[in-house]
Amino acid sequence: MMNRCVLCLFLLSLFGTGLLFSCDSAEDEAQSLSELMRERTNQMQALQAVFEAGEIPDTASLSFIPFVQGEPSREALRDPGVIGQMEGFDAFYARFMDHPTPQNYQIVVQSCVSCHERLCPGPLRLIRGLALEEIPEPGLQFFDR
Ligand code: HEC
Repeated sequence: MMNRCVLCLFLLSLFGTGLLFSCDSAEDEAQSLSELMRERTNQMQALQAVFEAGEIPDTASLSFIPFVQGEPSREALRDPGVIGQMEGFDAFYARFMDHPTPQNYQIVVQSCVSCHERLCPGPLRLIRGLALEEIPEPGLQFFDR
């Protein structure tokens, strides 16, 4: 009897979390810009580890939600100038995913840093920590052709 109750509770809780998850993933609700940035930071930490192991990451299956789709926390961030910078960065990141070289990765980190120096200095230490310590030869290169 006891065991059966425990099983019921277990099944109920599974069903419950299933419901929660389906509510959570409501697609019409825009994600906050901060949330997108934090997810990107996690993604880049994983990429950093692969580069530092001397390998080229497989970026084809990674998620990519452009920053311009995020909901900013303050009105000032809806400025056309800021949106233009986000668009520029998004295009840049998409090209990096097509050409995931260590050189291009470093340029991405530098772009995160340069926007944050102006608009959001809080996480700069964290962001600078994403940089690779060593870039393999042949040194700094723009995107592969
Ligand atoms: C064009 C400007 C710009 C670029 C490029 C940019 N950010 Fe941000 N980032 C912001 C702004 C503005 C916020 C604050 C967003 C808000 O308050 O809605 C932010 C927030 C963050 C946060 C803090 C989230 C939180 O609240 O905890 C992190 C971490 C972050 N960005 C990491 C990155 C990383 C990593 C990159 C590069 C992949 C990057 N950002 C590129 C402007 C930028």
